[in-house]
Amino acid sequence: MAAWPCFAPPQTTYALDNACPHKKGPLADGIVHGSAVTCPLHNWVISLETGTVQGADEGQVATYPAKVAEGRIYLDAAFLMQRTPA
Ligand code: FES
Repeated sequence: MAAWPCFAPPQTTYALDNACPHKKGPLADGIVHGSAVTCPLHNWVISLETGTVQGADEGQVATYPAKVAEGRIYLDAAFLMQRTPA
């Protein structure tokens, strides 16, 4: 899983699976721009808000509710417990 706290307004924190839907590239090593991340392997662009691949490519990454408090990123444990193992 990869998480990005965005400190520019609206100060949203995003958490996604750390595997690009193309060939499992490490999204945590990607470049974040606006509310999207570009995969470092082949430049697919993925929405941090929805996990949907943008543009002509197709795919989906799981997203998770997250927030920053006291300098730490917190995930919603109840949401994670409901998730079906892959
Ligand atoms: S692995 Fe991410 S774009 Fe190919």
